[in-house]
Amino acid sequence: MATNIKRIGVLTGGGDCAGLNAVIRAVVRSAVGEHQIEVFGIEDGFLGLIEDRVHPLTVADTADIMTRGGTILGTTNRVSPRQFVTGYDADGTPQFIDVTDRVLTHIKQHQLDGLVAIGGDGTMSECARLAGHGVRCVGVPKTIDNDIMHTDVTFGFQTAVEIATEALDRIHTTAASHHRVMIVETMGRHAGWLALHAGIASGADVILLPEIPYDFEVIRRSCEERAKVGKSFTIMAVAEGAHPRGGEVIVDTLIAESPDPVRLGGVSTVIAQQINELSHLECRNTILGHVQRGGAPCAFDRVLATTLGHAAVDLVIAGQWNHMVAVQEGMITSAGIADVAGQQRTVPTDGPRIAAARAVGTCMGDSFERRW
Ligand code: F6P
Repeated sequence: MATNIKRIGVLTGGGDCAGLNAVIRAVVRSAVGEHQIEVFGIEDGFLGLIEDRVHPLTVADTADIMTRGGTILGTTNRVSPRQFVTGYDADGTPQFIDVTDRVLTHIKQHQLDGLVAIGGDGTMSECARLAGHGVRCVGVPKTIDNDIMHTDVTFGFQTAVEIATEALDRIHTTAASHHRVMIVETMGRHAGWLALHAGIASGADVILLPEIPYDFEVIRRSCEERAKVGKSFTIMAVAEGAHPRGGEVIVDTLIAESPDPVRLGGVSTVIAQQINELSHLECRNTILGHVQRGGAPCAFDRVLATTLGHAAVDLVIAGQWNHMVAVQEGMITSAGIADVAGQQRTVPTDGPRIAAARAVGTCMGDSFERRW
């Protein structure tokens, strides 16, 4: 298809995940190879557009990056052009200014006809906002949380599931040896896809998700009843966003300068303390943290990332700006970025995964039922 697009920019925004480099590779090779469009790489997400760190990205630059974790472009989830930190008050409160004009100037100076923005909800929200200033973006959804609206899956998720599943499998043997309750805490702030999939894959006895507020008494009873019927250990997969019924999430850090300031972590520590204090069982917890985002992408994510990167260039060529590539019911489709921004795709509590988990005897933290 003939196109008047001569040059595009590509950036990675938000928290990293496995597969980002595979998308960058596919974008560059599809744009250059199929359409003779030049690609410029933007360093550290929107920060690179603010600070004018924008450079040509060639096919040669994308050699040998498919299997590499992280992003060769760098990323940040602390910066929005609308809310750029210029300094701090005496009490440490950040001072912000809007530097959107710098972004627009640098896009113009580098003659970028549009951007491919690889990121999560924050990145899509920024693209939706910049669209109001005439910036043309195509989005590619990424997050290990798998919670972006209007796509059934995001790359990075499956790799994180594999990592969390391996951790749970390893915890299994030490739990059995010591006759302990062992908790593995995964990432997943608003959505529990990662804890649910890794929990099912590893046969966890208890899975706790943000979508199903838990009752500690149900968890305690579930662990104790297992002990009573001769199961000497219990494995729990817990999303960082899990919280008790009527209670709050556990906040680990507040990053004042970030447009998305809340970082969670530690719910497994709280539950482990409660089990140690309120039952006769012994409990330990492991918080997996950023190990879930690092390292080489699994084969599924390499294929998905390559397909989405190529599909993003197709949207550029079709002039379908301000859309995000997506996977819906097995097909590569797209969704309006404005419809994606500011939303989360949570686990449906009446969906087949949770039904299957309950059917095989997993306690979901809301009710206890001894099936056998
Ligand atoms: O949104 C992806 C995610 O990995 C969340 O699961 C997690 O809560 C958050 O990012 C951590 O962000 P940071 O890299 O700032 O610690």
